[in-house]
Amino acid sequence: MKSDLRLFNAIAEALLDAEQQQPVTSYIPATEIYDHVDLKLKDEPMSEADFEASITELILKTPRTSTDHFFNQLFGGRQPKAVVGELLAVLLNNSMYTYKVGGPMIAVEKTIIKEICKRIGYPEGSDGTIATGGSMTNFMGMLMARDHVDPSVKTKGSSGKLIVYCSEASHYSNAKNAAFSGIGRDNIRYIKTDGEGRLAPSDLEKQISNDIAAGLTPCCVIATSGTTVLGAFDPINPIADLCEQHKIWLHVDAAFGGSTMWSDTYKHLIAGSERADSFSVNAHKMLGTPITCSIIVTKHREMLYESFSNDASYLYQTDGDDLNLGKISLQCGRRNDALKFWTLWKAVGNNGLKNIVEHQFSLADYAREYIDKHPDYTNYGIAPSVCVCFNYKNISPEKICNDLYMAGELMVGYGSFGGDTFVRFVTINARNTKEDVDQFFKRFEAFAEANYR
Ligand SMILES: Cc1ncc(COP(=O)(O)O)c(C=O)c1O
Repeated sequence: MKSDLRLFNAIAEALLDAEQQQPVTSYIPATEIYDHVDLKLKDEPMSEADFEASITELILKTPRTSTDHFFNQLFGGRQPKAVVGELLAVLLNNSMYTYKVGGPMIAVEKTIIKEICKRIGYPEGSDGTIATGGSMTNFMGMLMARDHVDPSVKTKGSSGKLIVYCSEASHYSNAKNAAFSGIGRDNIRYIKTDGEGRLAPSDLEKQISNDIAAGLTPCCVIATSGTTVLGAFDPINPIADLCEQHKIWLHVDAAFGGSTMWSDTYKHLIAGSERADSFSVNAHKMLGTPITCSIIVTKHREMLYESFSNDASYLYQTDGDDLNLGKISLQCGRRNDALKFWTLWKAVGNNGLKNIVEHQFSLADYAREYIDKHPDYTNYGIAPSVCVCFNYKNISPEKICNDLYMAGELMVGYGSFGGDTFVRFVTINARNTKEDVDQFFKRFEAFAEANYR
C-alpha cells in the first residue's frame, strides 16, 4: 500500500501542476472518448510503469472542477482540510451502519448532526443522517412526510391521493422522488414564483385549499433555500404558517443555500427553518467539501426510525440503536461522508465556515457590480445570490457557454428563468479571488470579440 500511496502522490502532484498550467482540460468529443484514452480491461495484469502511465493519462484528461476557471455548477474548488478528511475516509473504509465498524466515526457524524440542529434552532432530541446527495436527502424528507401522513403506504402502497407542493423553480429531484416514493409525478403541484424566483405563498394557499376540497391529502411542502438557477430563497415563515394550519410536513431543501446558517449576514435568508419538519443541506456545495456530503435533520427523530429502520440480525449485533446508524439510513453499507466535513469544520471553526460562505457572496456582489456598470451586459439575476446571471451583447448563452468549453477556455453554464435564458456564473469556489472574477470577464469578453463579431 505504501508504494501505491507514493504513486498516488506522484499523480496528485502531476494533476495539481497541470491545473496551474491548463485550468480547463482539452475538450474530447463524447463520440471519440474511447479513442482518446485506453480504457480496455484485459485478462493479463499491467506492468507498474504501464499502469502509472495509463492512470496518469486518464486523470489528466478528466475535466478540472477545482480550478479558477470552473464556474459551471453549484460546487467547485477544493478545501484542502476537507480533502484530507475524504482521503483518510477512503483509506479507513469504514461503513457507517454500525458502531462496531464505524467506531468514533459514528460520533463524528452525530456531532455534525447535533451542531446543525442547534444552528438552525431545532429542539434537543432532533436527529438526522447523511445520504449520497441533496436529491437523496430530499427523498428522505419526502418519505418521512409520506409515512407521517399515511403510515399504511409502507405496507399497502400509495392511495394516489397524496399531494406534494414545491415551487416551479425547485430542484428536479422532487419530481423523481415523487415517482420513487409512489406518490407519483402527477401529484406534484408546482407553485408559481414571484419575479425573483421565490415560491408565492398565496398561490400555495390556493392550491392546498383546492386539493383539500377535492378530497386529496396534502402530504408535504418542499421549500427551497437557494434555487438551483437563480439562488432564490423561498419565504419559509409564511410557508410554515400554511403548513401548521393544515398540518402538512414542511421540508426545506437547503442543499444549496443552507450553509448561510454560518453567516450572521445571510442567515436571515433561511429564517423560519426551525419550524420545518425536516431540513437538508449539502456541505459539498457552498462549504466546498468533496462530493458528496448531504445532511438531513428532522425534529421528528421517531420518523427516521419509522421510515428507514429494518431489523437485520446479521448486522445489528452490538451497541444499541442510537449508534447503529444503519437503522436510520436510506441504504445498508454507507461511506463515511462525515469525516471530510468534520476535518474542515475542526480546522477552520465556525468562523472559517462563515468566511467561506460570505466570501462567495462578496465575489458575486463584485461580479454583479461589474455587469451592472457595463452596458454590454444584461443582468438577469437576483441579489443576494452566488449565482450571477447575465447575457453579453446579443450572444446566445447556450452558444458561448458550449464554445468556451470546447475551446478549453472556461467552464460556465447557462440557465433559464421566466422565459429568459442566460449565462449562470457561480462564485461558489471560495478559494477564488476578485482577480479571478476579473479574469473570468476578461476571458469571456475576449472570446466573444474573437468569435462572434
Ligand atoms: C436546490 C437543490 N436541491 C437539491 C440538489 C441536488 O443535490 P445533489 O446534486 O447533491 O443530489 C441541488 C443540486 O444542485 C439543488 O440545487
